[in-house]
Amino acid sequence: MKIAVMGAGAVGCYYGAMFALAGHEVVLIGRAPFVDAVSQSGLTLEKGGERLVAKVRASTDPSMIRGADIVMVCVKSGDTREAGQQIAPHLALGCIVLSLQNGVSNAETLGQITGRPVLPVVVYVASHMIGPGVVRHEGRGDLELSGQGAEVVADIFNVAGVETRVFDDVMASLWAKLVVNCAINPLSAITGLPYGKIAAQEGMPELMRDIAREALSVAQAEGVSVPDAVFETIRTIPVTMAGQHSSTAQDLGRGKPTEIDYLNGEIVSRAAKLGIDVPINRTLTLLVKSAERGSTVDGKTNSIGQ
Ligand code: PAF
Repeated sequence: MKIAVMGAGAVGCYYGAMFALAGHEVVLIGRAPFVDAVSQSGLTLEKGGERLVAKVRASTDPSMIRGADIVMVCVKSGDTREAGQQIAPHLALGCIVLSLQNGVSNAETLGQITGRPVLPVVVYVASHMIGPGVVRHEGRGDLELSGQGAEVVADIFNVAGVETRVFDDVMASLWAKLVVNCAINPLSAITGLPYGKIAAQEGMPELMRDIAREALSVAQAEGVSVPDAVFETIRTIPVTMAGQHSSTAQDLGRGKPTEIDYLNGEIVSRAAKLGIDVPINRTLTLLVKSAERGSTVDGKTNSIGQ
């Protein structure tokens, strides 16, 4: 199959490499330094002590997604609109568009812009770029998805070694991931620590639980019932992804805008409309935004660069 990946950050590169290594034709759309590195040396995936080089095509030109059977959108939430506009004219008839992004509304936004049904994919992977064209895997990598065509995609992904589950209740699944992101992403960004070290500190597991409770009160008020298993996910992530810094921490480290408005900030704005007080999520949003103002280099990201 031809699989196109829009956004060559840690998520796009991890899955792009996995599918290329499984024999699929993969094209990644990214920034020039990434494209140069991959054109010279391929896409390198460091995983389980191995260094695997995947043969992929890389380009800065979104029209290279033409003819793809599956298009995976992996850009940051703030770049979704631009990415949607860039891919829309090049989507093949019948191609399946997936959103592998944090947040609860990106698939809907992409669907409106592209005029195609877009399947939301809930991503649990710990990965980061250690250089242009080199991605390191730190843990997990499993996906959850739902919607028309989900079974077909799940079969292709499972055969390629990417564990993929199909879920009926997409909102519950997206919200569960949002709650997890709220509980761990800002703490890693503010402390600069990986999940394992954060959870080992006194009071931190309880803080994560309280952040999650606030977020869940908003989900509940919106009529979304997130299974209690979300607390177990929050407890296990510091074990299964012990060495991982959140994507929010990685963005701050690179001087890029974070996705905080789509994570804890999303909870804050929805809570305000519902008349619910979410003081911990509000505080964390403010702290990350403050850190972001101090670290942002150019004040904006590029949709294809993550
Ligand atoms: O945003 C992130 O960092 C990721 O969604 C996750 C799964 C929490 C792993 O770090």
